[in-house]
Amino acid sequence: MSHQDALISEDIIAYLEAQENKSFLRFITCGSVDDGKSTLIGRLLYDSKLIYEDQLASIEKDSKKSGTQGDKIDLALLVDGLAAEREQGITIDVAYRFFSTDKRKFIVADTPGHEQYTRNMATGASTADVAVLLIDARYGVQIQTRRHAFIVSSLGIKNVVVAINKMDLVDFDQSVYNDIEVEFRAFAKELGFADITCIPMSALDGDNVTSKSNKAEWYRGPFLLQYLEDVDVEERSLDLPFRLPVQWVNRPNLDFRGFSGTVASGMISVGDEIIVIPSGKRSKVKSIVTFDGDLERAREDMAITLTLEDEIDISRGDIICRKDNPAEQADQFQARILWMTDKELFPGRQYLMKSVNKTVPVSVTNIKHRIDVNDLSETAVKTLGLNEIGVCTLSLGGPIAFDAYDQNRNTGSFIVIDKHSNETVGVGMIDFALRRAKNVVWQDLDVSKTVRAEQKNQSPVILWFTGLSGSGKSTIANLVEKKLLDLGRHTYTLDGDNIRHGLNNDLGFTKADRIENIRRISETAKLMVDAGLITLTSFISPYRAERQMAREMVEDGEFVEIFVNTPLEVCEARDVKGLYAKARAGTIKNFTGIDSEYQTPVNSEIEINTVDMSAEKAAEVVVQYLEKNGYLKGPGE
Ligand code: ADX
Repeated sequence: MSHQDALISEDIIAYLEAQENKSFLRFITCGSVDDGKSTLIGRLLYDSKLIYEDQLASIEKDSKKSGTQGDKIDLALLVDGLAAEREQGITIDVAYRFFSTDKRKFIVADTPGHEQYTRNMATGASTADVAVLLIDARYGVQIQTRRHAFIVSSLGIKNVVVAINKMDLVDFDQSVYNDIEVEFRAFAKELGFADITCIPMSALDGDNVTSKSNKAEWYRGPFLLQYLEDVDVEERSLDLPFRLPVQWVNRPNLDFRGFSGTVASGMISVGDEIIVIPSGKRSKVKSIVTFDGDLERAREDMAITLTLEDEIDISRGDIICRKDNPAEQADQFQARILWMTDKELFPGRQYLMKSVNKTVPVSVTNIKHRIDVNDLSETAVKTLGLNEIGVCTLSLGGPIAFDAYDQNRNTGSFIVIDKHSNETVGVGMIDFALRRAKNVVWQDLDVSKTVRAEQKNQSPVILWFTGLSGSGKSTIANLVEKKLLDLGRHTYTLDGDNIRHGLNNDLGFTKADRIENIRRISETAKLMVDAGLITLTSFISPYRAERQMAREMVEDGEFVEIFVNTPLEVCEARDVKGLYAKARAGTIKNFTGIDSEYQTPVNSEIEINTVDMSAEKAAEVVVQYLEKNGYLKGPGE
């Protein structure tokens, strides 16, 4: 290494110990490559002299060849060169770089700077103590600066450096600097930062990065590295309550049972009393086992295995807390969500939510409002798009242990995952629980679904008709219901046109409204199945995700999808209600098949082609299916 500490050759152990005892600072740089971000990080790494000599030599060579900085070393090449070595194929693309000075060790999260990479920024920021926001002095505060400041504050970072960069290009003009500082501070007033430090800088020339610049005599504050070395962020997390999210139960033999994970916050000592959330079971810490032997106490970030005095059941995803300060538990929350994909977030649609190390199904029950990052104003919206931030209420498939984000960044944050693509599509911060999960106990009723169904001599089922408007869903469903009635069965039909006059008369035909339409219908149909009924639903239900959701709401075998496959041309030619003509004329918007999509079913139990088959025959096919598959016998037979 080019950094030559005399201790390395004289007393390597003393050197390593000194390194070990230095305090740690994690920070993130936000801004685009054009703002000079790579150059700034390169400068910090270069000046702290923690660059391999051979790497340095090759950069000096490359700078002459392809650099953009004449004879100067192009430090951006250093960072970009490292970037190319990054592992490919990881979803979250954040590079963590390490460097140290005599005073401190640093980890800097380097994230791609373009708008669509907000996701990476949020990932890097979630563990940082300080954020360095880069601003190009020539352009001042940009939308992106505001977005980054907002995200950084939402993620709980209290200390911000505004690096007003490229001051060399504005002749270190104090008034340029002052204007930017005033504008930023005015915007950031409501963001709740504990400290904002503005620094005039030229990352390229090294002004105010790792040493004081003499080109901005008017500036009295610290240079960047000085700030990073001195800023006080220590010990904060040790005051937090102890949380150990259990990653796995370690049971190598019958005599040992330990609970392993990384301490998310706080401290724990041997002998401390603990409580497990959600079970509420209690015990005492018997030992704290680590890779390097047993410890008396452990703190945040350490990978440990706890053994307990008592044999209690603990599973992966549980959180071990100290008895005096347990985590909360709930299945409904208010949270802020940052949406990170161009497929919009729709209320009612099911996603997965991954919090510390537990994954549960989640849906947004309501978007209270979207926050505009430009002026922090609130707007009522029905969906969230790429890079938008909304305050939402969430309903989870099961309870999770949690803390509010402002109490604990680890146990208060989560990511949202698309169930089908497995992609991370959002990050969230829990504000508070809407109600405690322990208050919602399912009412156990004496008369069960089975009893009701037996009385009716049938197996309850949803017959889910899907297809374009005018495809014949309702006609066929109607005939099926009549036949079932003749057979003495108990049925009910939920039909699009009728339900939209009552239960769903507040909904139109946007994507969000259709998703909500189907969610309510699914819930209603589920109740009817519980009542023991053969339930027919007749809705276009254009999206696969919601049809799948309806299927998953009931038990296996209780959902039969019937795809009424009538081609668009045929539906349009029939045009029973005259709606296709209106849609073509543009007087009806978002009409399925015209300017709104229909996702063809892929796993229907029954497919009916009405071009070759009469409605009467189609109804027979459905009833035969029910007979053949045992739906029309009582469950006991
Ligand atoms: S769904 O898409 O949300 O499942 P649903 O089945 O409830 O639709 O309602 C469809 C019926 O509403 C159609 O058969 C038609 O009569 C009427 N309708 C009115 N406007 C539209 C539209 N823009 N798109 C589709 N159907 C419409």
